[in-house]
Amino acid sequence: MNHLLETEKKLVKSIRAANSFLIKNKETLLLGNVGKIIKNIPSPPKTTKKWFQKSYVLGSEQNDFLAGKGVFYITEGRKLFLDTTAGHYQMTWGYNHPSLMKCLDEAIKLGIPWDCHSNIPGFFVKKLSEKLVEICNPGCQSQNLLHDENCLNTVLLGIATGSVACSTAMKLALNYFKKQKPHNKKIVFISLRGNYHGTDFLMQRLRGMWNEIFSEKLVFELVEPNDIEELKKIFDKHGKDIAAFFFEPVMMNREAILLTGEFIQAARRFTESVDALMIVDEIQTCCWYPEIFMYKQFDITPDILILGKGLTAGFHPLSAVVYKRKLDSLKQYDAISTNGNAPLPSLMALCCLNLIENNVKRIEMLANYYENCLKNLACEFPHLIVSVQGKGLLSGLKLKNQQTALKFHQKCIEKGIWLRVHAYYEGHSTALTKFALSVSKNVLDYTVSMFRKILKTL
Ligand SMILES: Cc1ncc(COP(=O)(O)O)c(C=O)c1O
Repeated sequence: MNHLLETEKKLVKSIRAANSFLIKNKETLLLGNVGKIIKNIPSPPKTTKKWFQKSYVLGSEQNDFLAGKGVFYITEGRKLFLDTTAGHYQMTWGYNHPSLMKCLDEAIKLGIPWDCHSNIPGFFVKKLSEKLVEICNPGCQSQNLLHDENCLNTVLLGIATGSVACSTAMKLALNYFKKQKPHNKKIVFISLRGNYHGTDFLMQRLRGMWNEIFSEKLVFELVEPNDIEELKKIFDKHGKDIAAFFFEPVMMNREAILLTGEFIQAARRFTESVDALMIVDEIQTCCWYPEIFMYKQFDITPDILILGKGLTAGFHPLSAVVYKRKLDSLKQYDAISTNGNAPLPSLMALCCLNLIENNVKRIEMLANYYENCLKNLACEFPHLIVSVQGKGLLSGLKLKNQQTALKFHQKCIEKGIWLRVHAYYEGHSTALTKFALSVSKNVLDYTVSMFRKILKTL
């Protein structure tokens, strides 16, 4: 035990008891206790959130995280929660997955470091770049790949967060635009209404913020998801001034709207016709589908693919941008994070990808099963549920109005089911779940039965 943990004896005792409760008890027993206070876990010492920024202090300290295992976690108030959101949408395999923890323990014992300088990337960082290219181009010979103009064959690793990865993609698009269309008077970026590509200035500009600080040369257009006509009008209006079209396959920040193949294929045709780039932000969707990258379901190849969040399954952030080699224009310090060139997170990413590859059938079965359960629920409550959104384990239940969605959310939290809700903008009324891939059919059944009970009370 290190010094800090030695002095925090009360905390250690509490975490140990909480972990032991989560590990020793079978899933059915845990499900039977969801929403209850586990009294034989000693209370942890009190801490304060008063030094945080105001917007961060949302709930009582009693609801803050103490310990987690799989899809369950226990709060400082010792209440047992079922987490239907995989942490903050990033813990692909839930809390402390046994095989990932085993690998991590072995790697730490072996002395593999969390981080090192980007000039000396190490075996696993290189291996991860190779693996990402391989997933994008299954079965292709590597010597041909490097010279293929039309495939995703270049990887920019060494960035920690998704926001930096998205802004990196934007820089690649700007450089390509400057090279290809040096005389154009404006540079147009198109994205979807309700998008979320992170917290960087340019990415926030994509969703309408900071207009006052950008030059008129940069034009940002918003299009309604799946509206091919509106997209066509924007392409007709700006033509070759368009630099790029950004999209997320499932818009987890706008009620889990799923983009249709028809829309994405039309967008691919439009972008190609004016030499604009298609940029797919898979920070939410990567690692949650049997194909690993969801763009593959749409039968297109984007120019730039952005990965993050679930890539390392919640162990130290690591993001990546995978793109066509002709776009490779950034110098070393144009886009890196000091904490991003990471041998151990790269190893965790490789293990996470490996787990997906070994569980394709199971992931497919669970995703279909959950989607069908939600569809049946929608049929049972047509007066309350408007639609089932999203795809597979990334899903949304769109309720009839904002008030009903907020009530549904509040009741779920009271009963110990942790989920998200989009009901803060006009017209938004969706409860969101993104189960970790380690979820079982029993847990899905339990969740749906609790949803049913709660819906009956609304
Ligand atoms: C689609 C999408 N893009 C980008 C980001 C930003 O990633 P990060 O929070 O790691 O900066 C997020 C985060 O939620 C996201 O969902």
